[in-house]
Amino acid sequence: MSSPTPGTSIPPLYILLAGGTTVLWLWTRKPADPVPPLVEVDGLWSYYATAYRFIKNSSDLILQAYVRDRHGVFRIPRLFRWDYLANGADRVAEVAAAREDVLSFMHGVDETLQVSYMMGSEIRDNPYHHHTVQTTLTRNLARCFPQVKDEIVCAFDDVLSLKDEEWKPFAVLPGAMKVVARTTNRLFVGLPLCRNQEYLNISIRYTIAVFKRCHILSLFPHWIRPVIGPLMSPKKEADRHKLGPDWPDKPNDLISWLMQDAAPADKTVPALAHRVLIVNMAAIHTSTMALVNVLFDLTTYPSHIQPMREEVERVIMQEGWTKAALNSMHLVDSFIRESQRLNGSSPVVAKDGFRFSDGTFIPFGSYLATSGRAVQHDAENYERPETFDGFRFARMREELEQNADHAVFKNHMISTSPTHLVFGYGRHACPGRFFAATELKAMLAHILITYDVKSDEGRPVEYSFGRVRTASPTATILIRKRQ
Ligand code: HEM
Repeated sequence: MSSPTPGTSIPPLYILLAGGTTVLWLWTRKPADPVPPLVEVDGLWSYYATAYRFIKNSSDLILQAYVRDRHGVFRIPRLFRWDYLANGADRVAEVAAAREDVLSFMHGVDETLQVSYMMGSEIRDNPYHHHTVQTTLTRNLARCFPQVKDEIVCAFDDVLSLKDEEWKPFAVLPGAMKVVARTTNRLFVGLPLCRNQEYLNISIRYTIAVFKRCHILSLFPHWIRPVIGPLMSPKKEADRHKLGPDWPDKPNDLISWLMQDAAPADKTVPALAHRVLIVNMAAIHTSTMALVNVLFDLTTYPSHIQPMREEVERVIMQEGWTKAALNSMHLVDSFIRESQRLNGSSPVVAKDGFRFSDGTFIPFGSYLATSGRAVQHDAENYERPETFDGFRFARMREELEQNADHAVFKNHMISTSPTHLVFGYGRHACPGRFFAATELKAMLAHILITYDVKSDEGRPVEYSFGRVRTASPTATILIRKRQ
């Protein structure tokens, strides 16, 4: 590359870079904000070094800030702005209680998942599917459970294809994703579409694309996203595939439930197909990660297997293999909740200026996150928080039941609280968690009574990118038919 010589004009790119860097430098030095940074930042270099560390592994930095002040508020240097982090259960409760026009959850989700570009602005502006999932879908769970359970059995059978008594390596993440996609879609679209490979591939590819690309896009400044966003959107790729023609006529499934809530303009086949894809995206990635972690915890802490097996067999013998029977599987419920406590990541919450009750102020237009992971690893909230104790919630439940304490309901897998943020908290808590719990509990119960699992290696290391942590995509466990 040639350098500018005397007499030649400086290339505009250099001016742009120099100008941009100066503006950034001045901007990042903004002295007005009294909220302390996550770690000490004393210049452009340390600002970007911290921003980079945050992209590589946010958990350690968040934990450092949490140890410094477990009820504090901190600034996080990102590539093009400061974000904010609120620590501790009290602040989580305060954030969750704020009205949408004060702290906009939808803008928070838009920023995290890049909804407008990845899914389309209509999904952000009219998320009526949240209501459908929360109400009609959840109400139909007991009625649809026999089909869901049938699909769990068939999907594991097909994906594992165990032929003899031998141990077989099972690639957990891709395998779990196939089982989850099929089971979820047995409820969403029914047979035969839920087993149609092309349809499942579209749902899985779309989910992976959204979760990968949204994090990359969110690294860019807002002003350039309208240019890059449409190029990165997986929406068109999915739309190109034909989802419509072979959908069943009048089944009791997600499509018919969505049609009850959709405005007339949203009742077209492409619009409904797109919504089904969106709900798939919300359901598949999250439930797959939960199942993957459950399997890793099962093989890492195998002493939990026998007591859970006995519980599942006893309950099924007494009550049958029903959705109601899942309510009596307290150890299974507790095991999954514990796995989520240690492995779940924290959701991002909001936008817009906000003043906490102690006067701490978050400036207008900034993004605020809560430190869910740190809260869930805090000894103030959990005894021996770093220890995996699969039955801790079952024991808490028993004690509270004995004392006829209403707080018993606070320790179920679906219960949300400021100290357990896996499904979020407050009015935006995950509306699909009742289905997720049904599906995951039925899956774990089925695995326990049908298969033996083990691993000769330790718990696989997680990958992390910014605030997102993901299970190893290549790790395997060993599995065989139960002996
Ligand atoms: C283990 C599985 C799951 C986990 C960990 C999970 C977690 C979450 C979290 C953290 C949020 C954001 C809530 C907040 O920030 O306050 C959320 C939102 C949502 N989830 Fe789930 N989810 C799971 C399964 C599902 C399933 C199975 C469905 C669909 C049937 C679903 C549908 C949704 C929808 C539609 C939203 C948006 C809610 C809103 O914006 O108000 N999720 N989920």
